[in-house]
Amino acid sequence: MCGIVGAIARRNVAKILLEGLSRLEYRGYDSSGMAINSDNGVHAHRAVGKVQALKNKCEDAPLEGHIGIAHTRWATHGKPTEVNAHPHFSGDDLAIVHNGIIENHAFLRRELIEKGYEFKSQTDTEVIVHLIFDEVKAGKNLLEAVQATLVRLEGAFALAVTYNDDNERFIAARKGSPLVVGVGIEENFVASDQLALLHVTDQFIFLEEGDVADVSRDQVLIYDDKGELQDRPISVFNHHLDSTDKGDFRHYMLKEIYEQPKVIAACLDGRVSETSILTNCFGADSDFLKEVENIHIVACGTSYHAGMVAKYWIEDLAGLPCAVEVASEYRYRKVAVPKNTLFLTLSQSGETADTLAALKMAKGLGYLTTLAICNVPSSSLVRESALTLLTNAGVEIGVASTKAFTTQLTALLVTSVAIAVQHGLSAARETELVRSLRSLPAYIDMALKQDSAIKMLADRFANKQNAIFLGRGSMFPIALEGALKLKEISYIHAEAYPAGELKHGPLALVDEDMPIITVVPNNSLLDKLKSNLQEVSARGGELYVFADLDTEFHEEVGVTFTEVPKVPDILAPIVHTIPLQLLAYYVAVVKGTDVDQPRNLAKSVTVE
Ligand code: AGP
Repeated sequence: MCGIVGAIARRNVAKILLEGLSRLEYRGYDSSGMAINSDNGVHAHRAVGKVQALKNKCEDAPLEGHIGIAHTRWATHGKPTEVNAHPHFSGDDLAIVHNGIIENHAFLRRELIEKGYEFKSQTDTEVIVHLIFDEVKAGKNLLEAVQATLVRLEGAFALAVTYNDDNERFIAARKGSPLVVGVGIEENFVASDQLALLHVTDQFIFLEEGDVADVSRDQVLIYDDKGELQDRPISVFNHHLDSTDKGDFRHYMLKEIYEQPKVIAACLDGRVSETSILTNCFGADSDFLKEVENIHIVACGTSYHAGMVAKYWIEDLAGLPCAVEVASEYRYRKVAVPKNTLFLTLSQSGETADTLAALKMAKGLGYLTTLAICNVPSSSLVRESALTLLTNAGVEIGVASTKAFTTQLTALLVTSVAIAVQHGLSAARETELVRSLRSLPAYIDMALKQDSAIKMLADRFANKQNAIFLGRGSMFPIALEGALKLKEISYIHAEAYPAGELKHGPLALVDEDMPIITVVPNNSLLDKLKSNLQEVSARGGELYVFADLDTEFHEEVGVTFTEVPKVPDILAPIVHTIPLQLLAYYVAVVKGTDVDQPRNLAKSVTVE
């Protein structure tokens, strides 16, 4: 989390940095700051709140110079106050911006205090800048001082450092947090994400783990963690692929919900023919599909919910055991890995710290291979996995994940069928499933047609404190996802349960004030679910049922019915996601929350 930007140019870099911060705001938005070097010293502004607060300060007292760094923060150490906002300084001339967590900061802080350094903030970042200053004082140049400091830091970081005694360069480094160099003509940049720099360049160098970049106007020298000079490739960003424009939509989240038919089609493109899965979509080496005997799926948040749905598909279609686990748990336990197990990670950003750490650990555990289903082609997860299936959802800006989730599900269904075909699935069933997949964008379009009906429901949730979501089978993870969406953006406390679990405890919560939102599968579980809902009605619970007409649910006292298109059973989890996304969105709009940037959260969780 946190976003950093750095720039060195012949022109004034202040506007470039501010625009970069606006584009990085999705990574954290509790405070921001900027420092610019100039002949008469370093000038800085810091502000609490969104980047707009910093922009206001810059309008009142403009900063000007050819080299500078900037930061938007998601607080880890220390409250979101101006004092804790970056950049942090040592002396008057050395400034740093940092994303990540320094785990041994307390030890280093004590050492620096003993040496006479004074700390102004509660952040872990301040230890880094004092350590660098200490090395500079000892006679090292800025690059050497940063390199000497990095070896003392435990944890994950991306950082950029300027020194007003050396205005020919700034130094940037990464370990565990993303950082990209933007290459311009007689100007160069760094940022946490290439999106932050698309207004100044489309040429990027993705720094590797442990890299340190010496960035000057005319060149970028990159050293690996052993201090060896490296030649890292430049990639060119394709502007046609991604649009960060909100268009006519009020929020990015709504735009992204509406993009789903298009991006699901893009996700299927090149992955299915008329009748079968195109297994070369996994790369040249698709032998793993045949060899795999077990699957371990590891992810966080919404991506974890997608993995939970895939477990139903894989065990049902391929008959192979599949375990799904949140990455923050997986990475800290001893995992038993049966022979020929595929390690599958899911991530929108490809930069989630826990998921990356899990992958790193898994690489030493004798898995058959590693596969990442991910939305960002240039991400660390993609670079570090043996195999990749990109979800092609395009840039997702809203903190609440929507199109990234449904494209993950689409890619997971493609993967499940591909594996199943190698484990006895008949050609006829493959064709049936592929035809279902091909009709998915149209079904999503139909589900979106309930927009106004769902909007009308939103008012009824605005004053609720709690909500329960229910599902059964592969609809249970969809209930979990619906609850996550609602709590994330409307701040209503929401829980999800498999409907059959209700009577084992949560039923005690049900009264007239408790909305119970149910996604109804039209399959062998339908009658079971109907019985569970009777238990709710009998206790005065207010039911909101999302189902197709054939389920014979209808509006009645205590039951609000919203139609979802009738779709092949295998697609039901994907299609039923749409009304739950819309419900969360409209409830948040009624409540007046910050839909795209909900409180306390950040889009990319690059700290553990
Ligand atoms: C979902 O709306 C959240 N933004 C969050 O749960 C997210 O899915 C999680 O942090 C994992 O992110 P990733 O997919 O980028 O790894």
